[in-house]
Amino acid sequence: MSKTIIVSNRLPVQLQISEGKITAIPSVGGLATGMKSVHSGGESLWIGWSGLTQEEIPEDLVGDIDEALAGQGCSKVALSQEEVDGFYFGFSNRTIWPLFHYFMEYTEFEWDFWEAYEAVNRKFADAILEQTSEDDVVWVHDYQLMLVPEMLRAERPGLSIGFFLHIPFPSYEIFRTMPWRREVLAGLLGSDLIGFHTYDYERHFLSSVRRILGHEVSFNEIHLDDRVAKVDSFPMGIDYKKFHEAAIRHREMKPGEESDLQQRLNSHKASTPNAKFFLSIDRLDYSKGIAKRIKAFEYFLQKYPEYKEKVRLIILAVPSRSLVPQYQLLKKEIDELVGRINGEISTVSWTPIWYFYRSLPFDNLIDLYTTCDIAWLTPIRDGMNLVAKEYIATRTDQTGVLLLSEMAGSANEMHESLLINPNNFEQIADSLHQAITMPVSEQIARNAPMQKRLERYNVEKWARDFMDSLKAQQNRDYSQV
Ligand code: UDP
Ligand code: G6P
Repeated sequence: MSKTIIVSNRLPVQLQISEGKITAIPSVGGLATGMKSVHSGGESLWIGWSGLTQEEIPEDLVGDIDEALAGQGCSKVALSQEEVDGFYFGFSNRTIWPLFHYFMEYTEFEWDFWEAYEAVNRKFADAILEQTSEDDVVWVHDYQLMLVPEMLRAERPGLSIGFFLHIPFPSYEIFRTMPWRREVLAGLLGSDLIGFHTYDYERHFLSSVRRILGHEVSFNEIHLDDRVAKVDSFPMGIDYKKFHEAAIRHREMKPGEESDLQQRLNSHKASTPNAKFFLSIDRLDYSKGIAKRIKAFEYFLQKYPEYKEKVRLIILAVPSRSLVPQYQLLKKEIDELVGRINGEISTVSWTPIWYFYRSLPFDNLIDLYTTCDIAWLTPIRDGMNLVAKEYIATRTDQTGVLLLSEMAGSANEMHESLLINPNNFEQIADSLHQAITMPVSEQIARNAPMQKRLERYNVEKWARDFMDSLKAQQNRDYSQV
């Protein structure tokens, strides 16, 4: 029987070793949270990196680790510290990530990083080939593994290969600056189907393929020498039921059953009954615009001083890529901004910003989503932004206001939210004011259609649509082309 092989750099869990014992913690980020729901529902094998380097794994624990992962339908690709440095911290997160998010000034073009990226992509391809037979379907995910499809195709031409990019694909003018632009495009074109979150990313990709490689492109098909590769957009959804039902359970909780965090939130709500809670949740990443958001909050309080002591900004910044210098600088900048603003404008009974630098368990995320009146999610550039979708899914009484950046992929499907340009502080301040004063009937009128859409286009449907399209592509008769 054919099976589906999911491949991504991160497995759904990250392993850690403490006091000689292995522990597994859930991976953060949209890819992991979304694909986890797809993986748990089917007969698939997930191949990826465990989060530990070879040097960190004691010889006597290798068997236990493989067994623990196999129990979760996973298999690991072992990476050395040197490989992780060049491939993950280097090319993936100091070259591709900033470039594809339009942060040219942070992009480093280093040959050593590129060589490590190629070598680790080869390692992944070898691991996949070892565990795959001709009639399996391989679904490769994200920017860390863009060379893998071509490597697989070269060894096994008949294999069905899909690729999905979870981050933006930049415009040709940005992409063309990369020294390895031809290799990256050729790597992706090893796929039968290449998926993006939005039509704009798809368009940018097709334009780069045409202009850099000179392939004939008709509509969303790329004509290669021996076959046709198809490109399409599949906006990723969330596990709507999981979030919505957790929020219903949360609403039905009796006093005493609530988490510590919820009790703290409740006591603050009780002490200032008319205060509004703003919520900001992201990985601590410069593409998310967290520092800008904090400055915009300060500007908002200057423009609308009547909201002093009546609003509170809760920031959850999840630690991410903390060995990359730009992330360390950003952490410092955010710490300082929060400290300065809280120092300058707090009063005896009011701390304007609550800042958490950690990852929270699912139940605490539900506490925050269901308690906060306004979700303020304004990335400077974001492939999708699933947090925006999760917030709306948990609003069981359909109240709440979503302030969303136009630069997030999810803005395409959430046009009933208050869409803002993250660089326009006037617009942000006025939209926050609009959100605070928005009548409940309007909140419901905006959220109801978004909920309906999220329920219908959930992550399961997203995966099914991709797989159906991949199967259809595989069954095509190229003699007609
Ligand atoms: N998330 C998490 N732990 C946290 C905070 C958030 O697992 O402490 C999840 C969140 O529920 C969402 C994902 O991380 O599913 C973030 O995905 P998003 O698409 O918003 O951004 P990404 O991190 O992929 O850039
Ligand atoms: C985004 C990327 C994922 C990545 C995640 C977390 O969602 O699209 O590929 O896994 O961020 O980042 P990390 O570097 O910790 O894997």
